[in-house]
Amino acid sequence: MSKEVILIVGANGQLGTVLSQKLQQIYGNSHVITSDLFKKNDSEPNFITLDATDFKAVEDVVLKNKITQIYHLAAILSAKGEQNPLATWSLNMKTLFNVLEVSRLHKIQKVFFPSSIAVFGHNIDKENTLQYSNLTPTTVYGMSKVAGENWIHYYYQKYGLDVRSLRYPGVIGYQSLPGGGTTDYAVDIYHKAIINEVFECFLAPKTTLPMMYMDDVIRATIELMEAPKENISVRTSYNIAGISFSPEEIAQSIKEFYPDFKIKYNPDFRQAIADSWPKIINDSEARKDWNWKPAFDLKLMTKTMIKNLK
Ligand code: SER
Repeated sequence: MSKEVILIVGANGQLGTVLSQKLQQIYGNSHVITSDLFKKNDSEPNFITLDATDFKAVEDVVLKNKITQIYHLAAILSAKGEQNPLATWSLNMKTLFNVLEVSRLHKIQKVFFPSSIAVFGHNIDKENTLQYSNLTPTTVYGMSKVAGENWIHYYYQKYGLDVRSLRYPGVIGYQSLPGGGTTDYAVDIYHKAIINEVFECFLAPKTTLPMMYMDDVIRATIELMEAPKENISVRTSYNIAGISFSPEEIAQSIKEFYPDFKIKYNPDFRQAIADSWPKIINDSEARKDWNWKPAFDLKLMTKTMIKNLK
């Protein structure tokens, strides 16, 4: 029987919803405490209402439940964050500091912190964005992730806290909806396609971005967290790549199933954010250190999304 007790902060978000279920499968329901600002439904096992900006509240949950690992998934994303830059910085940083400090004080064994492709800005090779590229983000969300990467590196160096991190691309899954991101269109498009609605895209047709199907995202996260400590050479955050495609290309892949599917383009402020991000991520460090390899291409993802959403 596992001795681990895992706390998931931000468990009701797009990623948390699916990751919580996977961790419950692996460790057993009684070994996973899910938390968020609000409860989603009554069937969530071991759910705790938690405001992660409150240090004492986070510490209480950790002590009461004898937590050994924390997945810190709470954040305001790229597009929503631009509506209130200072509040976004404050929430993203405060929750991270609380998790890091509670983890240091109470000897948490492992922490997961998601970073993002939003850490990159214009001065990179967009067709082959290397692990160690310039990090001059164009959004407050990206700035909070760059700062977060440096803080987790600091806690590792100074206190030996084992924090691990991935720079997630856009995440696409049928189980949950994203909120406030620049890559969200790639989930919404499937929801419109299956009800035969015209999809209005807030990005231009040729805007290629790095994306990943949910199963690959979850597997990458667990593989990183289970990798032997000595294999982890990147203590900021790993580049990981799945699929790169544009709105035009995902629409084309949907047309294979729905030949009458229609998309129209109406780019808004999110276009400038997307234009500052990489198109293709180079993830050779992740491949080398813990054997990362994605399994889903665009075709398989579209087939799987449509099958499950229908
Ligand atoms: N999917 C995120 C966003 O669009 C990127 O991390 O903000």
